[in-house]
Parts: sequence; structure tokens; C-alpha cells
Amino acid sequence: MQGSDKKSIGKVTWKSPSNIALVKYWGKYGRQYPKNTSISFTLQNAFTETTVKYALKSEKTEGVSIRFLFEGVNNKKFEEKIHQFLVSIIDYFPYLKDFHLDIESKNSFPHSTGIASSASSMSALALCLCEIEKRITGNLKDEKQFLEKSSIIARLGSGSACRSVFPHLALWGKLDAVQNSSNDFAIPISENIHPIFQSFRDSILIISSSEKSVSSRAGHALMEGNPYAKSRYQQANSHIELLINAMKNGNLDDWGKIVEKEALTLHALMMASEPPYILMHPNTLIAIERIQQFRKENQLPVFFTLDAGPNIHLLYPDNIKKEIISFIDEELVPLCENHRVIHDQVGKGPEKID
Ligand code: PMV
Repeated sequence: MQGSDKKSIGKVTWKSPSNIALVKYWGKYGRQYPKNTSISFTLQNAFTETTVKYALKSEKTEGVSIRFLFEGVNNKKFEEKIHQFLVSIIDYFPYLKDFHLDIESKNSFPHSTGIASSASSMSALALCLCEIEKRITGNLKDEKQFLEKSSIIARLGSGSACRSVFPHLALWGKLDAVQNSSNDFAIPISENIHPIFQSFRDSILIISSSEKSVSSRAGHALMEGNPYAKSRYQQANSHIELLINAMKNGNLDDWGKIVEKEALTLHALMMASEPPYILMHPNTLIAIERIQQFRKENQLPVFFTLDAGPNIHLLYPDNIKKEIISFIDEELVPLCENHRVIHDQVGKGPEKID
């Protein structure tokens, strides 16, 4: 298919990874804007691959027209969610009224592991939508503009997804100390960062894959009445500056202290919400104790972080992989559901598949 044909019919595929926050986004306002700045590692192995086939509608019909397959199967619940999302972003993509979209998505990681798929799936979809805009309108030819709009659209789908668009390390949220930072989209921040962070590893310990008792959406909303909210937002912003400095200097001790404090603060905020709730499991705490003990005894830079759930992300530099994998196998695997650990690492960001 050549030239103008691609303007009326075509197919695009993007693969986009998940990310793990080091300084957490927890609390939002307006059209999915963050109450504080956040930073994450972009992952490599946990990704979503999305293909969108687009075709000009044969008849003029009102509204958005899609079909959605997840892992080869029509999933009405996801289809309805994506339909609603696309209706909500017609102002960004007027072409959505004129085209029918066949969307097909699959994840690299197994279903129901407790790994949130919204960051990878929303960023993959956003990249496909921008790719189609580029094909049919000729806009977004500039790479920076393309990624910026993809990040905005991913943010509207699921806040933290906006960070997945960039390789290695991304920052989201306006902060005077960080040039070009914005609440609208994430920015890459790998420049001037110590190279040790470009090959960091993240072994995800699946403590439980059960559905969480309180969703992230509800958790963000509960920050509204949280008595510690204001000081939390200030703390997060000061953590950003400390973390960036530690990453420039390659100071793993300082870095790890902030990362672990962020994880525990996130869960402390949940426990201080109204109503309070706990997402950690007993094995989460046992694993944390074992990690801290192992670090002390072996003097090795291995640290944990947590998402809004019970699973642990074990973060460590690539050069101690051998020692850490033996530690995981001996002391942490027995604490995991079905002995499940997913080994991931910092990655190069999304990829267009031809
Ligand atoms: O993007 P959401 O709305 O699923 O929120 C993500 C929240 C955390 O994962 C807990 C933190 C973060 O910054 O990713």
C-alpha cells in the first residue's frame, strides 16, 4: 500500500513497556494531572503489543467505531472501556469520527500476575493513534512532537502510562528545578545520569495476583481527604531533586534510601486514608525484612519498591545479578505465589513494528 492509499486504510503496530515508579504519583486533579512530580524506570520485558487497522468508514455514521480483541479474543469489557476513552479524546484526534478501528492487543507477561498492564497498554494505544494521525494528516513528523503527543494521550488513558513513552528514565509533573518538565506529558531524563542506571534490573516478586481490594483510581481519589496530602506532595517534589542528584553521582546508597522511603510512604498514605486500607500482604513484609537484612550482611546495593499492591520490585545493578538471583531463589521465591518471579530490566522504550 503506497502514498494516498495509506490515508484511507492501513495498519500500525507499536510495542510499549510498563514502568515502575521510583518517586510515586499518588493524587491527581482535573483531566488526569498529577499532584506531584514522579520518576520511573521504563521496563523492557513487560510490554503490550498493539496493532490498529484503520479504514475510512464506508458510510457516514456518528461517533467512534471500533472492534477490540485482547489476545485474539473479543473482550466486551475492555472494548467498552477503550470506546469510552476514544470518545473522550476526539478533540485530540478528529479523524476518529471518520475511521473504523480494529484494535488487537497482547501482553508479554502472563495474565493475572498482579502486574499493572495499564501503563504498557495505554502507551501502546496512544503511540498507534499518533502514528495513524501522522499517516493520514502528515502532522507529528517531528519525533519530539510525536512523543510528546503520545505521552499526553497515554496520560489521559492512565496517568503513569505517560512515562512509558521514553527510554530508561522518565519524569512527569511540572517542577521549576527541572527544565521542560510538564504536567501534560512526561520527559526523558537519562542525560547526565550515571550509566549504572541504564542497565538496572527489576525482579518482580509476585506475592499475590488477586485483584486488589481498592483500585488505583479509588486510591488516588482518597488522597483528597488525606490529612497528610499536602506535606506528601511537597515531600515527593523534594525527593525528585535528591533522587536526580543521587542518579547523577551514581550514589546507590542515597538513591536506595529515597526509593524505599517512597514505597513505604505510598502504603502509609493508604493506611492513613479515610477509610484506611492495607494492600501489603504478610509475605510482603517478610520479604522486605529479608531484603534489608541481606543488604546489611552482604553490603550489596539491592533495594525494594512497591506499586499500589502487595508485589515487590527488587531493584539492583546488573553487575551483582548473580548474587541477587541466588538470594531471590533461596530466600524470596518461597514467599511468592506459585513461586513466581518475573525478571525485568531497564529498557529502551517503545518500538514501532513494521
Ligand atoms: O497511573 P495510575 O492511575 O494507575 O497510578 C499509578 C500509581 C502508582 O503506580 C502507585 C505510582 C506511579 O507513579 O506509577
